[in-house]
Amino acid sequence: MTRIRLGVNIDHVATVRNARGENYPSPLRAAMLAEKNGADSVTIHLREDRRHINEFDLKRIIKKLKIPLNLEIAATKEMLKIATISKPPFICIVPEKRKEITTEGGLNLSHNQKFLKLLIKKLKKNNSRVSLFIEPNLKDLNQAKELDVNCVEIHTGKLCNLINKKNNYKNELKRIRNAVNKGNELGLEVHAGHGLTFTSARILTKIKGIHEYNIGHFLIGESIFSGLPQTIRKFKKILKS
Ligand code: PXP
Repeated sequence: MTRIRLGVNIDHVATVRNARGENYPSPLRAAMLAEKNGADSVTIHLREDRRHINEFDLKRIIKKLKIPLNLEIAATKEMLKIATISKPPFICIVPEKRKEITTEGGLNLSHNQKFLKLLIKKLKKNNSRVSLFIEPNLKDLNQAKELDVNCVEIHTGKLCNLINKKNNYKNELKRIRNAVNKGNELGLEVHAGHGLTFTSARILTKIKGIHEYNIGHFLIGESIFSGLPQTIRKFKKILKS
């Protein structure tokens, strides 16, 4: 059985720091603590508006981290340049809208396909493992395969919202299960992320074939009460079950 990996997203450590324009809490310290306490990778999203993580964080973290850094980027020329220079081991291409509070949906793989193809090719040539953040639908999985990425990350936001609001989530869980199966059939490594809590992660583990979970907002929030080490350990235990 393959081991399920946990990617710890530390963007919101930077959100707290930036709220006061101070130099604390430190995303680097959070990354090192995550590494020490069993995270399999650390995720950061360098947004166009730099609302949380900035280039200085990226440089410092990539220099010190021994586990892989997973850099989330939009499909833009600016991000291609930054990724080419910083060479993160993992890259996840995500959609980005300036006014959104968070990444609201998966990538539109039909939009700007020529650049997307070129971007993926260049990032892979630069020795990064490349993933696409997509909705759980079969068309996107086929397109991801054609785009020749290593992995896909399934957007779990809708499922998590339904679970949080105690609504019926069975159809969405089924949609994700079908997408995971299709991804595995196509030989893509399948990941999951967005909005995950202890409860939704536990529900999602019923689906076999998800190799990596990327979790941030809830995990960092929960760390206020229980600490980062304990919160990471609890997620790892859930993913093992
Ligand atoms: N995966 C991807 C591709 C994301 O864009 C995000 C949010 O930045 C996450 C996972 C983590 O989502 P959350 O912070 O809601 O756990």
